[in-house]
Amino acid sequence: MNGDAGQHRWWHGAVLYQLYVRSWLDTDGDGYGDLGGVIARLDYLSWLGVDGIWLSPTMPSPDDDWGYDVSDYLGVHPDLGTLDDMDRLIAEASGRGLRVLLDLVPNHTSSAHAWFVDAAGGRAAGHRDYYIWADPAPGGGPPNNWLDATGASAWAWHAPTGQYYLHNFLDSQPDLNWWEPAVHEEFAGILRFWLDRGVAGFRIDVAHGLYKDAKLRDNPPETAAGPMADKFGLKPVYNANRPEVHGVYRDWRKIADSYPEPRLLLGETWVPDAGRLASFYGQDDELQLAFNFPFVFAPFAAPELPAVVSGTLSRLPAGACPVWMASNHDVGRFPTRWCGGDERKTRLALLVLATLPGAVVLYYGDEIGMTDVDVPPGLRQDKMSRGVSGHGWQGSRDRARTPMQWDSSAAAGFTTPGVTPWLPAGDAAAVNVSGQREDPGSVLRFCRDLVSLRHAESGGRIASYRALPGPPGLWAYQAGSLTVRANFSGDPVTCHDPGGPVLLSTSGPAGPAAGEITLAPWQGIITRTA
Ligand code: GLC
Repeated sequence: MNGDAGQHRWWHGAVLYQLYVRSWLDTDGDGYGDLGGVIARLDYLSWLGVDGIWLSPTMPSPDDDWGYDVSDYLGVHPDLGTLDDMDRLIAEASGRGLRVLLDLVPNHTSSAHAWFVDAAGGRAAGHRDYYIWADPAPGGGPPNNWLDATGASAWAWHAPTGQYYLHNFLDSQPDLNWWEPAVHEEFAGILRFWLDRGVAGFRIDVAHGLYKDAKLRDNPPETAAGPMADKFGLKPVYNANRPEVHGVYRDWRKIADSYPEPRLLLGETWVPDAGRLASFYGQDDELQLAFNFPFVFAPFAAPELPAVVSGTLSRLPAGACPVWMASNHDVGRFPTRWCGGDERKTRLALLVLATLPGAVVLYYGDEIGMTDVDVPPGLRQDKMSRGVSGHGWQGSRDRARTPMQWDSSAAAGFTTPGVTPWLPAGDAAAVNVSGQREDPGSVLRFCRDLVSLRHAESGGRIASYRALPGPPGLWAYQAGSLTVRANFSGDPVTCHDPGGPVLLSTSGPAGPAAGEITLAPWQGIITRTA
């Protein structure tokens, strides 16, 4: 794919920032981050230079899955603030040129949602068909072999009405029935409610999953291997990944495009290959951005990582905007996952992310090289990953949800001194915003320079991408006006000197020699294409 076809949109060339609200900044001393905290640090985000923020779930929820179990789609979680706070946040962000995306969870609700409470009231209840109910299998037991995200049966027996209901995640997260037209109407209204308030769009949770097989057929055995293969041995062919989901996004895209400044739909498209990823862009009439999990799970190595990039770009429809991220609240933080805490690698990863074409999403703390935190079992908060051995999240997801490390104080500057944060902070003495902000050689200042270069060179555009030849271990490419040489090895690599001036480097100046350049282990440089 060579970019720049089609219309220019604000997310082209942009840097988005995933902000886990509960862990960002606590302004009311209850140990949880809140919307007041987001507002208080908008100036920091402006200084960093990001274009928009995606807020982790903000709607009322019993928090069995920390907001991914919504009990009211039109409200704000009382722990986080009020609807007025949200309005103020949108206005304050917009005053700084920052867009706000909300997290929308359309695959399931909380069992505390009024729709489910009604649906569970009886087989004739008005909302019964909002959910997926089924009779026991002929010999008794669950209707089929589908498993939930913990590896248990995805069916919960509901004795009062004598049927099972489906939950692909926890049993307190019943799956919605997208075969039911009223569910479509409800969500069209929910989208408009928030878009009318000025949100710039949505990150769509479990975007590949909304429809389930109408015949509830058994899933076949998993045949793939690797990090994206199903951990419990069944290929999710029928309990997710159904083709009908594309119709939902065509409808939502019409809604998004009906606003004077088109709004953004960014899908959590948990699919293992570029072909299926591409399908979520439709004919430029579905999602404008679809998260690329094969990139996330690729080894931090050349040629593997570059192969995923080339493979993705070759499959996306012309004009489609790729999106790259490497950390989130589920998969963990790349400075640990990819880099093992090695700052050279963290800088290299940031350099690559910042120069790839399309959109990039940083997770809070990526910019200071925050690593995963080993949360002791007794302090863990995530039910879905707590203590489940062999679980796909490779341990507790809490490790990547700990407080933002603002300064070196005991609670990392996240909450009032003396208050216990909801999750323990990492090593804030070693890694924190305030120390790095003052230090021109810090990861934070480097990241900010990268963001600034990205805006200057490819803001508002999808840069073209061309892989360049190089010795083993080197990933070299041209992205728009920039040439990138990234040494993905623990040995120095000598390659042809790209010629143009060095704009940024992960470490001191690359050793110049006539016609050649030598990169230190894990060094990356950006030059202007000669
Ligand atoms: C998505 C979210 C994850 C959540 C799950 C169920 O994968 O990112 O955190 O547990 O959906 O909503």
